[in-house]
Amino acid sequence: MTTNNSSGPLWAGRWGFVLAATGSAVGLGNIWKFPYMTGEYGGGAFVLVYLLCIAAIGIPLMMTEIAFGRRGRGSPVEAVRRVVAESGGASFWRVLGWMSMICGFMILCFYVVVAGWSISYLWKAVTGGLDAASVEGMAGIFGANNANPLNLGFWSTLVTVVTMGIVGKGVQEGIERSVRWMMPGMVLMLAVLIIYGMFSGGFGRAVDFLFGFEFDQLSGAGLLAAMGHAFFTLSLAAGAIMAYGAYLPAGKSIARTTFTVAICDTVVALMAGLAIFPIIFANGLDPASGPGLIFMSLPLAFQQMPLGTVLEVIFFIMLTMAALTSAISMIEATVAWLQQSRGISRARAAWSTGVVLWLVSLLVVLSFNVTAEWTVAGRNFFDWLDYLTSRWMMPLGGLGLSLLAGFFLKSNVMRDELGLAGVRYALWLFMIRYVTPLAIVVVFIDALGIAEL
Ligand code: PFF
Ligand code: NA
Repeated sequence: MTTNNSSGPLWAGRWGFVLAATGSAVGLGNIWKFPYMTGEYGGGAFVLVYLLCIAAIGIPLMMTEIAFGRRGRGSPVEAVRRVVAESGGASFWRVLGWMSMICGFMILCFYVVVAGWSISYLWKAVTGGLDAASVEGMAGIFGANNANPLNLGFWSTLVTVVTMGIVGKGVQEGIERSVRWMMPGMVLMLAVLIIYGMFSGGFGRAVDFLFGFEFDQLSGAGLLAAMGHAFFTLSLAAGAIMAYGAYLPAGKSIARTTFTVAICDTVVALMAGLAIFPIIFANGLDPASGPGLIFMSLPLAFQQMPLGTVLEVIFFIMLTMAALTSAISMIEATVAWLQQSRGISRARAAWSTGVVLWLVSLLVVLSFNVTAEWTVAGRNFFDWLDYLTSRWMMPLGGLGLSLLAGFFLKSNVMRDELGLAGVRYALWLFMIRYVTPLAIVVVFIDALGIAEL
């Protein structure tokens, strides 16, 4: 086994990190969340802000996170601690490692439930359970799937077990081995779906919807959502990328891998939009139907199309795989931290993490039925986890990381680790010092309504 200087594991294959990090980035965020948020926030303007956030915030921050992970060679908690200590920085910066890890854990608590929707829909698609004549009928199926906690809990438990099983096997034997075949499989299936979507008749309207900019449509809330989604979709400030960075062999270009991951993620999100909205429009359905978009409108649309069932099965297999390769990344930070700090085996660390995760995820399951009416400020438990992590924890964590890396570390640390010189280093430094934090702050201020932009 290839190991690093502190004798932890390293990605074995040449493409190990890229596959794992792309697997982390490409997930429910691209295929479930991005299309429904674009629908809710009115299309092109949301997409434009999202793309700007990827460029101005996402890319510089992803480089920073990978560099932190590799420099610190440990779980995010440990990596941040070591990198801060190396520069003699104040110990309160350590909160950034902790917050990332907790954020990833919190996301996974609801992510397994949505991934559970995906597997249950795969099951329904195969067994003919997605048979309804109208959107209302499909909404009924979606509702019934959520209404029974035992049913919903069964699927999310299945996802939890598979996720922890993969992570428990280790970085090379578990994570790397699973992404090595799931990623190419996903690309293939997505390609089939897009080609199909191009011939479905709604392609032109979908393009207009995704790329037609109407700025008056974008509210402060929409801006914040777009920024939060840029973090979510690239798996930033949630421990995942930093944890994976710890296994990146020395000498690999961080900038190049970052661009690869960010471009793949963006392309998949846009392609998912181009695959889904044509079907929605071709069948006269509503793009703004929220989190149920791909679980209600899409199955209905598939049903009315030639070869629909086959495509539907392919779609939900792809979605499940996308979810799994992201789920494993969200929990790697916690498992690595437990393993390192307690000196226990990876399998034990994974299963103990899994039990806690499972218990919290059951509360999320209940928020779809038994406790659905238990809301605080209009949000139930599921909504709160999503809202807190995407809108607040990730952007705030990103802000902290950019300030730490940009101003408070010894100047050679990031330069060495990123392996950049001259103009390229200057560009990264300028972005991480000024553009990234300012963009985050501006969006916050606007969203809070303190100032009108
Ligand atoms: N990037 C994933 C997606 O788009 O579905 C979600 C995600 C993965 C968020 C890993 C956070 C994370 F740490
Ligand atoms: Na993503």
